[in-house]
Amino acid sequence: MRPNTALALAVALALALAACGDDDVAPPVDAGTDAGGEVDAGSPDAGMDAGPEDAGTDAGTDAGPPCDGPPGLYADPGCSVLAAGVLPYNPQFWLWSDDTDKDRFIAFPEDTIIDTRDPDSWVFPVGTRIWKNFSLEGTKLETRLFEKVREGVGIATWSMRTFMWDESQVVVTEVMDGATDVLGTYHDIPPIAACPRCHAGGGSPDMVLGFGAIQLAHGDTETSLADLDALGLLSNAIPEGMAAVPGDAVEREALGYLHSNCGPCHGGLEPAAGMNLWLDTGLATVEASGAYTTAVDQPSAWVMDTATVRVRPGNPEGSTLFRRMGLRDMGVQQMPPLASDMVDPEGREIIETWITALGE
Ligand code: HEC
Ligand code: HEC
Repeated sequence: MRPNTALALAVALALALAACGDDDVAPPVDAGTDAGGEVDAGSPDAGMDAGPEDAGTDAGTDAGPPCDGPPGLYADPGCSVLAAGVLPYNPQFWLWSDDTDKDRFIAFPEDTIIDTRDPDSWVFPVGTRIWKNFSLEGTKLETRLFEKVREGVGIATWSMRTFMWDESQVVVTEVMDGATDVLGTYHDIPPIAACPRCHAGGGSPDMVLGFGAIQLAHGDTETSLADLDALGLLSNAIPEGMAAVPGDAVEREALGYLHSNCGPCHGGLEPAAGMNLWLDTGLATVEASGAYTTAVDQPSAWVMDTATVRVRPGNPEGSTLFRRMGLRDMGVQQMPPLASDMVDPEGREIIETWITALGE
């Protein structure tokens, strides 16, 4: 952890609490307003030109038009200074997104906590907002936004939105039906209808896939599991040891990769193809993981020449799990079946190394 992280977090939180002026519950799904009441980015049906934001800070009130970026994220005209109370975080196992860079941020309303009684099924308070930026070579392309809009658990309690940045890098437009080749790059935005294919169901009942015990139990994040506990944001503390992924470095990397990239569908109560690649806390041994019990030495329903087993120890080419990660443009045969047009070279290497080591 960076030395000043805890202090910076405490300051950020204090600012956030100070900035939240009212006790309003969440806005309606598509109101485009800010739970804390300090930013209004305009309602989607009025377009993004629905009037200037009042960012609630003195940063940049004289410095030109305000940032017309994603609701609630930035406080300055240049769309680069985070709004008060917005916490950056970094999950330790990333979803491959065709080599785009991603930055992620979360904000909680005043006086709320995450219900962590079940360490593997966090339930977020109403008003929680999570943003994920996609960029290439420093140019912002897309920002996805989840906002918890009503009490309860699961997809019906969240609004899911996505925004496309323009060349000015201070204006976004909400996108419902996806977009291709954003700003002349290869980056595509999926239609909103595709989001639930990964975010509903899976191992994480309350929709959020990358902000949980396993993903935050590491040092390379400005907001870690330990920080959340120190800030009083967890109803029940979760010791880092409990959230640790078992195994040696090769095994941990492989299990973590499969968790994030495949577990959203191959996880939960009804994992796709009955293969469970999602990780839960408290896993004592690698052999107890779903990847072992449901993939290693397990026959594949889908076969391809010599590959007839999901994971054949010592033989990546004979493993359908490895083979399907290497397919693209083949409709449902490629894995993951959507949201990626490029094979992940590092990810394949991680899995190849692991499968090879299994045979030793
Ligand atoms: C292929 C599966 C997949 C699809 C499709 C997908 N996501 Fe995600 N998303 C993930 C995973 C896995 C993470 C966590 C890991 C990461 O951030 O790299 C994530 C993270 C997020 C986050 C940060 C909060 C969290 O859950 O960790 C937001 C916000 C988000 N996605 C929004 C969206 C929206 C909006 C759409 C549709 C436009 C969408 N996602 C489509 C898999 C997917
Ligand atoms: C968006 C959901 C989704 C994601 C993400 C996803 N899968 Fe799948 N996967 C499926 C579905 C649905 C099936 C069953 C239908 C089929 O075989 O195409 C499947 C089947 C498979 C099978 C065949 C199992 C068998 O018995 O033959 C393998 C292997 C596989 N996936 C590997 C992966 C890997 C590896 C990843 C991550 C890199 C991944 N999947 C990510 C939805 C997904």
